[in-house]
Amino acid sequence: MITGIFGKPYLRLEEHLDLSALPAVHEEICLALTKIPVDYTGGSHRSMGIVPPSLEGEPWVDYGEVIAAMTDAEFATFRELSDDPRGIDPARRHELTFGEERDVPLSRRQMLWLEARFGVYFPWKVYVELMPNRWWGDKADPEGKVWSRTARAFFPKTIAFAESLPFVAVGRCNIMGLHANDFGTVHRDADPATEAPAPFITIAPAGNKRLFLWDEDTRTKHPVEGRAYWFNDGDYHGVDPDPFFRYSIRIDGDLRPELLEALQ
Ligand SMILES: [Fe+2]
Repeated sequence: MITGIFGKPYLRLEEHLDLSALPAVHEEICLALTKIPVDYTGGSHRSMGIVPPSLEGEPWVDYGEVIAAMTDAEFATFRELSDDPRGIDPARRHELTFGEERDVPLSRRQMLWLEARFGVYFPWKVYVELMPNRWWGDKADPEGKVWSRTARAFFPKTIAFAESLPFVAVGRCNIMGLHANDFGTVHRDADPATEAPAPFITIAPAGNKRLFLWDEDTRTKHPVEGRAYWFNDGDYHGVDPDPFFRYSIRIDGDLRPELLEALQ
């Protein structure tokens, strides 16, 4: 079953937001992506324990599983590729966790090596944190968060647009892009039984990213449509493959009471 928000599987937000800046934001993002370094993300959903049971047997390679199974020699190479090798004690490797939301974030070189050497599948190969956030748990909290220098230099229209949205304050903002033919692995970001829907808005400027909610009971997909929406990321969700690059922007922060009232 899908938990949704306010009795709906997801909420389309187009009629509640001013999206007139989106064509210019889209042009800015596509051009900026040619000028800045980008990261990968995803790639460890199964070892994070957040994929639906029916899809646990999918063949894509998960870096959490790969790192745990590395020989000492492989781990030594992996450590050398870190941005801070001395921060990783090989004797404690099985106590440490690596990657997004873990003790030790992956470096770009480690991601590329995990992909090339072990076949790890990173669904989102264009990942840009415009307002970096270390821990998932404080993504709605603006305390101590700033737009990155790169964001301010290359994404001024995107920042202005994000700040125009009905948030009390922005706590996190990132661009998530998928290469042609790649798909977003189905996962959930919270447990809907114990957590209220996280407040955030997804913007798909080109309207061409095929997000879906996954009903694990019926094993069916429910498409999420539109250029602006809020879905419950405690519901399983994934992105269908398409023969072209596409991306979305996710902005986290507490939503203004007026918007919540209107949506309710
Ligand atoms: Fe997610």
